[in-house]
Amino acid sequence: MAETIFMDEAEALNCFVKIGYISELEPAGQFSRWVSNHDILVFRRNGVIRAFSNVCPHFGGPVGYHQMTEGKFTCLWHNLQFDADTGQCLSVTKFKLREYKLMIKDEIIFARLVEA
Ligand code: FES
Repeated sequence: MAETIFMDEAEALNCFVKIGYISELEPAGQFSRWVSNHDILVFRRNGVIRAFSNVCPHFGGPVGYHQMTEGKFTCLWHNLQFDADTGQCLSVTKFKLREYKLMIKDEIIFARLVEA
């Protein structure tokens, strides 16, 4: 489950970058965005907004090209499936999607690109 991070605005601006707006989740419940060399898949599941890398660890295909179905993303290129709750690949267990920490403020979604 995504972690909600509370910090002052100055600290937030140093750590997080804007990746989109809540409104962009409608109507599909997901979108992907390139930000500073990061291809990020943002989605809402069970009311929680989360973000994973959109780059498949298999050969780099777009994990979020297709609509999430029954809690799973299916990569466009070779159909590996990923659990939307964990990012774990269900087809090849050595693969897992990176999750980005998010901060939401005033309907804007920010992600921490640099891993802590
Ligand atoms: S690149 Fe995603 S399944 Fe092969």
